[in-house]
Amino acid sequence: MIADHLPAALMLLLLFDDLSADMGTTPNLKQIVLGRCFSYVTLISPGSRYNCEEIWREFRNAVIQRAPCNVRVKDYSRMFHASPQALPCDTLLFWSKTREFVHSYSAITRRFCTLEDTLVGYMFNDLIWCGQKEKHRGFDFISCPEWSTCANHPVYSLWKQASQNFAASACGNITVILNGSMENAFNRTSMFGSVELDGLNPRMVNHVNIKVVANLEGPIILCLCLCGLLCVSIARDSCTKGSILNLIQILKTRGFRWTCTDTDMTLLILQCIQNPRQLSCQIFHNNML
Ligand SMILES: *[C@@H]1O[C@H](CO)[C@@H](O)[C@H](O)[C@H]1NC(C)=O
Ligand SMILES: *[C@@H]1O[C@H](CO)[C@@H](O)[C@H](O)[C@H]1NC(C)=O
Ligand SMILES: *[C@@H]1O[C@H](CO)[C@@H](O)[C@H](O)[C@H]1NC(C)=O
Repeated sequence: MIADHLPAALMLLLLFDDLSADMGTTPNLKQIVLGRCFSYVTLISPGSRYNCEEIWREFRNAVIQRAPCNVRVKDYSRMFHASPQALPCDTLLFWSKTREFVHSYSAITRRFCTLEDTLVGYMFNDLIWCGQKEKHRGFDFISCPEWSTCANHPVYSLWKQASQNFAASACGNITVILNGSMENAFNRTSMFGSVELDGLNPRMVNHVNIKVVANLEGPIILCLCLCGLLCVSIARDSCTKGSILNLIQILKTRGFRWTCTDTDMTLLILQCIQNPRQLSCQIFHNNML
């Protein structure tokens, strides 16, 4: 009831206060990071030789020896040095604005490796961390700066280096899954559009296979006769429209071979499994029977 009488500006202030209070270093950071590391080396990739304690130590030193907005990419170099990883050719899967969906796809197909399937990606996925203004005082569990307000945000810098390493190790075919329902499915300032794309080596990568996924809702514009009838609705961006043409142009200029599809059967079926009530999926389903 009290809230009803507060001026809007004050309400906003309280809201932001709440937000920043929730955005400190993830509680139990050390236990989570170490636990994930041990889980990775013991269960996910048994036989790999990593010193989890050392990786944690180098990570911690990189962060707490510096002010919260001043952890540069190269400050993590000792940590990355302690966690090198070669990734199998033909398996790397990149994504932009399709995170959740791509992780379901990757879990189901079991053929691909995303950044979050690498040791470092696995250890730090979804976590937040930063040091304190006075250095060496440990992690700040109360609040961390927003990415956008920092020159060198500790979380951003780690992901930037991890993304760079991931792209640089790509060989054979790679797959990129983009979101055709976004205004800019390919965005040059996203992690994929800047760091990862620039990190790919045309001499090591055979094909860049682009797959565009658009939401199923909306007016149906295209029906396919692939093991039944599947209808696809209008997309903002596709292989022949919008920002994805820019991506293709960059790939051509840099000498990559590429393919692009906006009607990948496996992806469409996965979308229908996740949204069986969609009209397009019901048409699909009826034709399968
Ligand atoms: C594409 O982006 C829209 C808008 O952000 C989102 O609702 C949708 O889930 C995304 N699609 C996929 C496949 O991730
Ligand atoms: C690589 O991609 C190309 C083009 O999509 C395809 O023809 C080829 O079979 C793929 N090779 C492997 C090893 O997946
Ligand atoms: C591109 O991505 C950046 C960073 O994620 C975002 O701030 C920007 O608004 C996006 N640009 C467009 C045109 O969508």
